Amino acid sequence: MEKTALKTLLAEMTIDEKIGQLMQVNTNIFVATKAEITGPLSKMGIEEERLKYIGSTLNFHGAAEMIQVQKEHLEKDPHKIPMLFMMDVIHGFRTIYPIPLGLGCSFDPELVKECSRMAAKEAAAGGVQVTFTPMVDYVRDARWGRVMETCGEDPYLNGVMGAAQVKAFQGDDLADKESLATCVKHFAAYGGAEAGKDYNTVELSERLLRECYLPAYKACIDAGTTMLMPSFNSLNGVPSTINPWLMQQVLRKEWGFSGVVITDYNAVGELIKHGITDNLKDAARMAFENGNDIEMVSTSYAQHLKELIQEGAFNEAQLDESVLRILELKNALGLFEDPYHGASVEKEQQVCLTPEHRAIARKAAEQSAVLLKNEGVLPFDEKVKKITLIGPFADEKAIKGFWACCGKDQDCVTVKEGIAALLPHAEIRVEKGCGNLWDDTDTSGIPAAVEAAKDAEIVVLCLGEPQNYSGEGNSRADLTLPGVQTELAKAVLAANQNAAVLLFNGRPLVLSELEKSAPAILDLWFPGTEGGNAAANLLFGKANPCGKVTMSFPKAVGQCPIYYNHPMTGRPKGNAEEVHHAYASNYIGCGNLPLYPFGHGLSYTTFAYESMTLDKTEMTAEDTITVSITVANTGSCTGKETVQLYLRDLYASAVPPIQKLIAFEKIELAPGEKKTVTFKVCEPMLRFWNGACEFISEPGDFNLFVGYADHPAITERFTLK
Ligand code: GLC
Repeated sequence: MEKTALKTLLAEMTIDEKIGQLMQVNTNIFVATKAEITGPLSKMGIEEERLKYIGSTLNFHGAAEMIQVQKEHLEKDPHKIPMLFMMDVIHGFRTIYPIPLGLGCSFDPELVKECSRMAAKEAAAGGVQVTFTPMVDYVRDARWGRVMETCGEDPYLNGVMGAAQVKAFQGDDLADKESLATCVKHFAAYGGAEAGKDYNTVELSERLLRECYLPAYKACIDAGTTMLMPSFNSLNGVPSTINPWLMQQVLRKEWGFSGVVITDYNAVGELIKHGITDNLKDAARMAFENGNDIEMVSTSYAQHLKELIQEGAFNEAQLDESVLRILELKNALGLFEDPYHGASVEKEQQVCLTPEHRAIARKAAEQSAVLLKNEGVLPFDEKVKKITLIGPFADEKAIKGFWACCGKDQDCVTVKEGIAALLPHAEIRVEKGCGNLWDDTDTSGIPAAVEAAKDAEIVVLCLGEPQNYSGEGNSRADLTLPGVQTELAKAVLAANQNAAVLLFNGRPLVLSELEKSAPAILDLWFPGTEGGNAAANLLFGKANPCGKVTMSFPKAVGQCPIYYNHPMTGRPKGNAEEVHHAYASNYIGCGNLPLYPFGHGLSYTTFAYESMTLDKTEMTAEDTITVSITVANTGSCTGKETVQLYLRDLYASAVPPIQKLIAFEKIELAPGEKKTVTFKVCEPMLRFWNGACEFISEPGDFNLFVGYADHPAITERFTLK
């Protein structure tokens, strides 16, 4: 529809119809019977009459329901304005790939795009038109359950992966039947929740917000995301949803975001719980005043916006601006021409869970896995005859992770199933040994597991936290393996050292005890539908692990928040490994370093960083420095390596971080092969937010190093004149 036609439509709409466009309710409201609906509607404070005006809905179940609801809506809506159907397609629709914290470990934006494109194809067929993705909240505290949704503790990597999702989900044209509109979230700094407790307060300086917490949202806006969702948390005392600095100053004025803003679930209603106001009318005023176009699930707009306009708090032109943004999004999706956006039950059945999609999910699970430790145990010999799988995840289908959309546990391939498919000749024994809940104390299964381990050629310990111990509302104050899993592992490893640990986790765990006795640890995160097949391929060398940690693994929960790009202090520790240094910034008995740092990840081969050369060691703001790094595969099998370039600003007017990732490139090398990777360093990469919140670079000396956090392989210095 032409933009002029949209304005004509807008002019014909009544104020009730306009306010209806700003409302979003759960789809079950539309499919409930008359008897079922009365209660919820009165609780929501709206009359049934208003339902025909509603502009969007969420949490429906596939194409059949979407088509039924859209059809009935169009029959009732006076101007036949299609509803928007939205869903959290975070890491797959029906074919589920690894959680974002895992997929980010691939350091492969093209793989992220391939997965997102697949998800978009399945979700669009299933009736989804907008996905509440990408979530790019910057995180530093693994106690927070929603770290599973993000790509970790580096602002640059989060931005690259978020932008890749935006581009892939949206494609070149939102009207394409395999494209979805995206919604970047949660703006802002939800990942900074105090003590890693979900929904908790966030107090951060503007400088730190701009340095670390805001860049990834901006990267997604620059990539063209069409929607944005403010976060539940309060930021420096004011809930993000109604935070003028965030929602007006930064988002609309500085960044010029012209897309649709949708609140989080009942976030407007929660302003009362926050203690910001005691009534919904005031909440509606503050939410609308701060640019929230769509109110998710709460009904303050439905109940009070008309009154607020009549009282002069707003004028109808402001309402029209919001409504027009929503109509423009519907138009960009082609909904006025095809309200179903190409969805159909047949198409949904055709495109979901196909072998091709399973293959993409399997590849993603293989490339997201991180080999944390390997003392010559992996890969196992595929000719082994007697395999024992021990632990709560040995034959477990609940490995798709939180926010798995329409994915089903029963679609998932377990570790046992994967190994049995790969090695049909092998005898596979499974001993669960214990549970995986935080209050599991039952150790009665350990002796049988130990016996089963004794006469096995190889043992695979499949351990982890339940998939609902991470994700929304699921924070933990203890990051060790829940229950008695560590005790089980130690007993089994004492019986057979030809063993490897497979981990299933939604966050970095504290593995210090396990690490002492496990010769090999392979972290699968929550790998999704093809987890078991990916596990088998990795364990037996059909796939070579190449993932790199994107969020530090603490040695103890007391180290949280722990992150690689931390500023210097006036009393840094001396020897990095020393576990205590008096009068220095450190912990007695624990030290500062994580167990596994950002950028760490082993391979079945080895790589050597042979040289790093700079074409100049002095640059002006107009220059660039070309950095050439030669990497060799010095091992016996082909492998992928992520070449990571870090910067350290040695002296600056704001305390600089000890290291900061500024570029990366993933390469594949055959045994004996060498490659030279080239990066360009330019002045904007040297900028930082200073104490006065100016984004500047300053002349002085810088170090560049290649390797991974806290582990430079080669360091070179240059000067910015
Ligand atoms: C949730 C989440 C948000 C999600 C929304 C809709 O509470 O905070 O990430 O997109 O509700 O499901």
